[in-house]
Amino acid sequence: MARGAVIFDLDGVIVSTDDCHYRAWKRLADEEGIYFDREINHRLRGVSRMESLSIVLERANRPYTAEERQMLAERKNAYYRELIAELTPEDILPGIKPLLERLKEHGIKIAIGSSSKNTPLILERIGLANYFDAVADGNAITNSKPDPEVFLLAAKKLGVPPAHCVVIEDADAGVEAALKAGMRVIGVGTAAGNPRATWTVASVADLSWEKLVKCFPDV
Ligand code: BG6
Ligand code: MG
Repeated sequence: MARGAVIFDLDGVIVSTDDCHYRAWKRLADEEGIYFDREINHRLRGVSRMESLSIVLERANRPYTAEERQMLAERKNAYYRELIAELTPEDILPGIKPLLERLKEHGIKIAIGSSSKNTPLILERIGLANYFDAVADGNAITNSKPDPEVFLLAAKKLGVPPAHCVVIEDADAGVEAALKAGMRVIGVGTAAGNPRATWTVASVADLSWEKLVKCFPDV
C-alpha cells in the first residue's frame, strides 16, 4: 500500500494562474460595466466557473438570463485561455518541483485536486502532463470546493485513504473542502492566514520537509 499522498491544488499553488483568472474576470466585468476588484476576486478562489460568475454578477445592475450567463462564462474562459496559452515550465512556482521530486523518491503519491476544467491544458503547458499519479479536476466533479468531492476523488484514484492524504491549498474554500474530506491541509499564499488549516506557510518554498514527512509515519 502507498505510504500516503500529497494532493496539490493547481491555481495559485503549482502555478500563478490565479492572477490570469483575475485578469480575465476583470476584462469581462469592465466590458459589461460591472464593478470588480481583487477583493471580490478572492471569493472566486477554488470555486467553479459558473459559481464565480454568479459572484461577479452580484454587482451587475440588471439580471442576466441563463443563456447570457452561459455566454459570459464562455467569453471569460476564452480570455483566460489566451493568458494561459503563454505559460511555460518556468511558471511553476518556487519550491514545487523539488518537493514533487522528493515525494516521488520517498514513495509518497502525488495528485492534483483542482476545480478547474482547464487543468489538462495548464499541466500540458507547464510540462507536468504525465507527472502526477492522479488528476482530479473540474471535468470530473459535480460539486466544486468547499465540497470535498474533488479531494475524495483524488484519494480514490490513488487508492490512498483520506486520513493518509495531505492537501496543499491557497483558497479558503479548498481548506474547508480538505477538512470535510477528512484530510490535513497546509494553507499557502492567500490561505496562509487561515486558522482552519492544519498549518500554514507563506509559500511552498518555505515548507519544512521534516514537518511534512511526520504526516507519513512509516517514511
Ligand atoms: C479554480 C480557481 O482552481 O478553478 C477558480 O481557483 C476557478 O478561480 C475554478 O474559477 C474554475 O476554473 P476554470 O478554469 O474551469 O474556469
Ligand atoms: Mg487555488
